[in-house]
Amino acid sequence: MRKETAVGGGSLFGTGPNGIFRRTVPKPEEPDDRRMLRVLGLPQLTMIGVGAIIGAGIFSLAGAVARDVAGPAVLVSFLIAGAASLCAAFAYAEFAGMVPRAGSSYTYAAAVLGEVVGWIIGWDLLLEYTAIVATVSIGMSGYAGFLLESVGIDLPVWMLGAPGTGEGHRVDLIAMLICLGVAWLLNRGTRTSAKVDVVLTAVKIAVVLLVVVVGLSRVDVANLTPFAPFGWGGAVTGAATVFFAVFGYDALSTAAEESVQARRLMPKAMVWSLAISMVLYVGACIVLTGMVPYHQINPDSGFSSAFASSGLPAVAVVIAIGAILGIVTVSFSFLMGASRLWYAMSRDGLMPKWFGQLHPVRRVPHRATWILGVVAAVLAGLLPVQQAAELTNIGVLFAFVLVCAAVTVLRYRRPDLPRGFRCPGMPVVPVLGVLFSAWLMSFLAAQTWLRFAGWLVVGLLVYALYGYRSTRRVMPGGSVDLSTLDEAR
Ligand code: ALA
Repeated sequence: MRKETAVGGGSLFGTGPNGIFRRTVPKPEEPDDRRMLRVLGLPQLTMIGVGAIIGAGIFSLAGAVARDVAGPAVLVSFLIAGAASLCAAFAYAEFAGMVPRAGSSYTYAAAVLGEVVGWIIGWDLLLEYTAIVATVSIGMSGYAGFLLESVGIDLPVWMLGAPGTGEGHRVDLIAMLICLGVAWLLNRGTRTSAKVDVVLTAVKIAVVLLVVVVGLSRVDVANLTPFAPFGWGGAVTGAATVFFAVFGYDALSTAAEESVQARRLMPKAMVWSLAISMVLYVGACIVLTGMVPYHQINPDSGFSSAFASSGLPAVAVVIAIGAILGIVTVSFSFLMGASRLWYAMSRDGLMPKWFGQLHPVRRVPHRATWILGVVAAVLAGLLPVQQAAELTNIGVLFAFVLVCAAVTVLRYRRPDLPRGFRCPGMPVVPVLGVLFSAWLMSFLAAQTWLRFAGWLVVGLLVYALYGYRSTRRVMPGGSVDLSTLDEAR
């Protein structure tokens, strides 16, 4: 049962029924709205996490950042981004062990910091997840181009990239088709996605291991000096971009309602998946910048091109195929995550129900999936990979700031709540997570900030004109007490 608190009364800025800071927990899903029930244990959850973490960040952005911004010190960029992400991973893990419900940071923020904060973060995540699908598709398109070229197919130049990414480039057609293809596939139904995910993630891990094992023997130490040709500032700026590579475990929380012992296992899976990915990244960065002088790295298909130019064309092709298959899992996770989020927000009344309605036969939120797929396709076709990644990063970093802040607030406000995992080093670690994330945000381009600010302003207008009233019709009442969460399930 929803418990109401007296706090805030009828004030607009309070936590009572009319307050925009009332604390809400999304309604439990109806049994027949559920996706296939799965019994996910620690290995599967960790695989899902790794599946969403390793993708275009390492396969594409590492090369672009090494070439243009950081040189071999891209390794340091990864370590900085990884440290920031680890602080946030601990905070996410504490939440996942406390509020084991789908909806990721949207749910956490609404339950702890209030409805309007939940809305802002949900709106932010919609843009972020869509931009991830776009970025990842651009990454895949680079490797698809490499494969086509290696079998002698030369596509017209105009369709090879976004304007400004090369001579004669007008649009990245392959990336657009990939976004639409993923939307189409998701709308066919997602019943087998967990199995497919595990298989493709295994392929992806195998490819990164292949890169590291074979590549290490081809490293020429001379290529690693100078280590930081753009100065240490370049490594830090690079961290704000390769940050893209080190998140994805947050998408795991969409599986919270399908995991066994969610309170105990979800947090572990989040931390493990990040740790495994970081170990692989360190090896891959050394190989990439050690095999080829940094200024000769191909930003579109870095690893394949490096192996091809080292006289290993067969390995290069295997890497390209593995990269494409592996990156697909990231697109799937995030397009599914975005459509589930939209579905949850519609269900809670924050968006019109029409968007969240399920397909009568396939039971997937088909309208949301198509709209998101088309928007991702437009972004993928017209934005260079770095800009698309920055648009994502600003959104993720913003979500990290709020989640780290929320976990700290809650630890002191509600120390009594059962927690399956406790963020270590409280409050230093989450506060570091806030500072690290805000610091990395400050390196993002002004244009990225403007796009993001514009998106948030539109979001607040939608909330003021629609969501505020509508959600009160769907979820009447005041703040929910988090300790009633288990009863509500
Ligand atoms: N971390 C994911 C990637 O690198 C989003 O593709």
